[in-house]
Amino acid sequence: MKLLVTGGAGYIGSATAQLLLEEGHEVVVLDNLYTGHREAVPDGAAFVEADLLDVAKVREVFRTHRPEGVLHFAALSLVGESMQDPGKYFYTNVTGAVNLLEAMREAGTRLIIFSSTAAVYGSPEKMPIAETTPTVPTNPYGESKLMIEKILGWYHETHGIRWVALRYFNACGAVEGRGEDHEPETHLIPLLLLTALGKRKIFKVFGDDYPTPDGTCIRDYIHIHDLARAHVLALDEKAVGAYNLGTTTGNSVKEVLEAAEKVIGKPIPHEIAPRRPGDPPALVAEHARITKELGWEPECSTLDEIIGSAWAWHSSHPDGYATK
Ligand code: UFG
Repeated sequence: MKLLVTGGAGYIGSATAQLLLEEGHEVVVLDNLYTGHREAVPDGAAFVEADLLDVAKVREVFRTHRPEGVLHFAALSLVGESMQDPGKYFYTNVTGAVNLLEAMREAGTRLIIFSSTAAVYGSPEKMPIAETTPTVPTNPYGESKLMIEKILGWYHETHGIRWVALRYFNACGAVEGRGEDHEPETHLIPLLLLTALGKRKIFKVFGDDYPTPDGTCIRDYIHIHDLARAHVLALDEKAVGAYNLGTTTGNSVKEVLEAAEKVIGKPIPHEIAPRRPGDPPALVAEHARITKELGWEPECSTLDEIIGSAWAWHSSHPDGYATK
């Protein structure tokens, strides 16, 4: 298929664009390079530097390339920033999505696969989380993604645009030539590995007094290659609606720290710090729906594979894509 990948210069978008090419699809990447990296766009993909808020430009991209489907990764995604500047998140994420949908409607493009998030669930008490778990976001980032899911439902009903929302849990790991390079970096695994490389002084464990077995927060870590595979499966016509993408296995911050020390073979300087405001104690996904309907199973989301691949990326790219 001919596919438009928005945010295809970003962490998950570029890994997925690469896999789509390998699967024989034709790929056009649209990215404003605000957080993405030109170097991450795979060879073989066409590249358009454009912002989804630029309506005329987005329409032009559809007129020029006539994609049959869209994979929509482009968005702002920092929970903390969204609490400080909610308007920026609603404007950028929601308006960007509506602009994209309007251009799709005009061009007759009938498929969108959307990067959603575990943040749509907020902080549920019952684990694992299923798609039927109530969606009660606790920050504007999660709310903006949930609003877009609802908008997608309406475009399906009114214009027949098929939609799939993949609710990612904790995306991590690296694939050949592509890994995490965020500014600022806020995620657990890159921060641990950057500390091991001496790029950060000390790793802070945000809270060890949570109601979990070792007192640190539990998350569901999923390798970006497994995420990318799910996007390929979601091209199938029977996929419609929201699907969790997690592994059903939770790991605590302490477990990830210990696994990282084991993989790299040396201790990582760390200290216990206060809780980070807004962090739920545990978030673990049930993935029965996508397994049953699309045959997806996690294949490379063990901590060893995740951290091993991330370590290969960070140790060969200590300054990310800017590494000389
Ligand atoms: N953590 C630390 N120290 C750090 C960084 C993180 O202890 O320096 C802990 C956090 O407290 C949390 C865990 O490591 O318990 C994972 O934190 P991340 O920041 O890596 O990921 P989050 O679970 O906070 O966020 C992820 C995605 C968001 C998404 C959210 C859904 O990155 O985009 O899941 O809840 F919104």
